[in-house]
Amino acid sequence: MSHTVSTQLIPPWPTPPDRLPGLVGLLHRLRRNPLECWSAEFFREPIVRIRLPLLTAYIVSDPEAIRRVLMDNAANYRKDPIQRRILANGLADGLLSVEDERWETQRRTLAPLLAKRTVISFSSAIRHAAEQLAGRWEKLCDGTILDVAAEMTLVTLNVLALTIFSDGIGGDPEDFRSAMNAYFGVIGRIGIFDLMGLPASVPRPGRARLRRTMAYFEGVIDGLIETRRRRMGSFGAAPPNDLLTLLLRADDPTTGRAMSLTEVRSNILTFLSAGHETTANALAWSIFLLSQSPEWRMRVREEARRELDGPVEGLADRLVVTKAVVQEALRLYPPIAALSRTATEPDTIGQFQIGRGALVVIAPYVLHRHSTLWDRPEVFDPARFLGDAKREVPRFAYLPFGIGPRTCIGASFALQEATIVLAVLMERFELALAPDAKVWPVQSVTLRPAYGIPMRLMRRGGVDPLTTRESVTSGPLDNAGGEAAAGDLVMQRTAQIEGY
Ligand code: HEM
Repeated sequence: MSHTVSTQLIPPWPTPPDRLPGLVGLLHRLRRNPLECWSAEFFREPIVRIRLPLLTAYIVSDPEAIRRVLMDNAANYRKDPIQRRILANGLADGLLSVEDERWETQRRTLAPLLAKRTVISFSSAIRHAAEQLAGRWEKLCDGTILDVAAEMTLVTLNVLALTIFSDGIGGDPEDFRSAMNAYFGVIGRIGIFDLMGLPASVPRPGRARLRRTMAYFEGVIDGLIETRRRRMGSFGAAPPNDLLTLLLRADDPTTGRAMSLTEVRSNILTFLSAGHETTANALAWSIFLLSQSPEWRMRVREEARRELDGPVEGLADRLVVTKAVVQEALRLYPPIAALSRTATEPDTIGQFQIGRGALVVIAPYVLHRHSTLWDRPEVFDPARFLGDAKREVPRFAYLPFGIGPRTCIGASFALQEATIVLAVLMERFELALAPDAKVWPVQSVTLRPAYGIPMRLMRRGGVDPLTTRESVTSGPLDNAGGEAAAGDLVMQRTAQIEGY
């Protein structure tokens, strides 16, 4: 099957080196930007083995092998200790970091809260948060330069605050937001001690500050939980139907056990932490990609104009083109660029014998650009996720949310949120890349734009005093060989994409 497109856009990414660098080069790149480590063979081979002095690692992009690691034999592959130690900073008792029985019971308890049928009821809160952001932008002058990446972080935090604590957070929302920002600024930081694999008992620099920030923010959350508990226990108005009430009422369908205060708090922190930056990146990359593609911008706008007037229920399901843009942004720039597991027992995957303790990495960033799985993988083309083409996307070749028992529990929430927010913003504003902006992907906990995404804001219908960025970036330019200014995107005019 083939579909026609008028423009081929190859968004910026580090050109894979021909060969994997040596150990020193590898460590240097890992620290600077892990995306630069992936050499050409990773995008070509089903499984690549890397032997390091203390460790053997397998990078797996073969769909059958992925099925074995993440689904059929998932019990043999645990989240690796580095990933867990980093998470354990603040989220030790939340779903993301617990294991074994604790994980099973939490997963069973939390699954109904974030199931698609439940998250559909959050669509008006999401729309409200998007409208609040749009209202703030409306007050700015046309031509204002905004960092869209930072703005998306604010809107996704706001969505979570509105869906978890729908009756407000009490006190000054600015205080809450800055406490939350400070919290997330410190918990996800990967230090050199972590990369070196030093045990958690070795004191890390900045640990005291981390503890203070955590204690303060956790105290704020505990206060909110306590107030809600009292309200739920008293007669009078029913408590709001939000995630906090659902969390406090939730019990394990198998054992009937409710969650402890620590588990409720840890899972609120987990949702805030796992849900805000990931979704913010998906949105920021989507807006960036649309700013480079007049064709898709127009299609998203037409759809948004038509659908935003309709009922808010089921809105994200009607925004099919907008959702396809988000899915394509998640393919090109998956916020979680790599999943890593440690084999607890020997196993066989493909032609490889996996030893006990080996590291197995499934990297959505590599998988989504793999030459044997995707047609012209480097090209931005949301049509991959529309109509018949969508049904042909192989199940284990597209994993922005992972797969198997530990798949993202917030996937429906995130997709719905990103789709609605994108539609509202695209309908109301013209966003053009700021002159001289550099857009470059870097993996630093999440896959984010290294220098933010500075964009010039125009209300739709306003008069744009400057030429748009696209008109500056016409004609084929080469971004090979390293960092590129955003204008250096490869834009080739061709008639058809074959394949699919
Ligand atoms: C675009 C946005 C998002 C992306 C790309 C994303 C990606 C992922 C991925 C890849 C995993 C699996 C990690 C692994 O297997 O090692 C995961 C797990 C998880 N995600 Fe998300 N996520 C997103 C949004 C959210 C949201 C909005 C929430 C909550 C409201 C959330 C909560 C979680 C939790 C709790 C887990 C752990 C599940 C478990 O271990 O059982 N995520 N996410």
